Amino acid sequence: MLEVSGLTKRFGGLLAVADVSLRVPEGGIVALVGPNGAGKTTLFAMVSGFIAPDSGSVAFAGEEITGLPPHLICAKGLVRTFQVVQPFGRLSVCENIAVGAHLHLAGRKEALERAREVAEKVGMGPLLDRRAQALTVAGRKRLELARALATAPRLLLLDEVMAGLNPTEMGAMIDVVKAIRDMGVTVFLIEHVMQAVASLAERVYVLNQGRLIADGAPGEIARTPAVIEAYLGHGAAARMVAQAVEASR
Ligand SMILES: Nc1ncnc2c1ncn2[C@@H]1O[C@H](COP(=O)(O)OP(=O)(O)O)[C@@H](O)[C@H]1O
Ligand SMILES: [Mg+2]
Repeated sequence: MLEVSGLTKRFGGLLAVADVSLRVPEGGIVALVGPNGAGKTTLFAMVSGFIAPDSGSVAFAGEEITGLPPHLICAKGLVRTFQVVQPFGRLSVCENIAVGAHLHLAGRKEALERAREVAEKVGMGPLLDRRAQALTVAGRKRLELARALATAPRLLLLDEVMAGLNPTEMGAMIDVVKAIRDMGVTVFLIEHVMQAVASLAERVYVLNQGRLIADGAPGEIARTPAVIEAYLGHGAAARMVAQAVEASR
């Protein structure tokens, strides 16, 4: 469904994304993890057309889309959410979602109808008439997801939709993401919360300082020394092994 090859982006002297290649197969959920500043959002921004890469290519559903503007990529069925969500605060939940639906539906009535359907799917049915600015953090995250979903994507890129949620809200969001996958939408998500990654993703890519350092099933990558080092700092893997040995005595 998505094939990224040798994607690279510099910001001045900073190599934000360095020669990254990865694949997201159709129908599944793939996660992208890594410490703050690893280049995850920049990678999503390049895939979805918001930032032009310095080099490398992006293919979606077998078609090269590198360098296309976001609205054309979105029209092809690839859409992203934003880490910092900015709904139209004075508009209602329903109207905000309808903005996404307008990509394919010109009529206001049709767009609002589609918005109501999508709201039901992400559990926002009871909040349809609420002003977006009155939503909680969890509500705003759901709205951002619903707005993206209303464009009828084939591939949805989710940037930290669990951030700032309490455990109950997170459990509900995990169910929403699974429901979206079950509708036939392929999901590629950036996530910090490893518990969420473990319960959602079949495959995980780990980015550190712009480079991919590991990939595999969630259980596999958690045991990879390079991943432990990236998250916990230099020498952490060796210390953890030493502690495990100590504890087993
Ligand atoms: N528009 C930009 N201009 C300059 N530097 C940027 C810009 N966007 C991101 N960066 C830098 O690129 C690096 C990667 O950022 P980002 O992709 O947001 O990381 P992540 O999402 O993994 O936390 C960081 O060091 C960040 O400060
Ligand atoms: Mg980010």
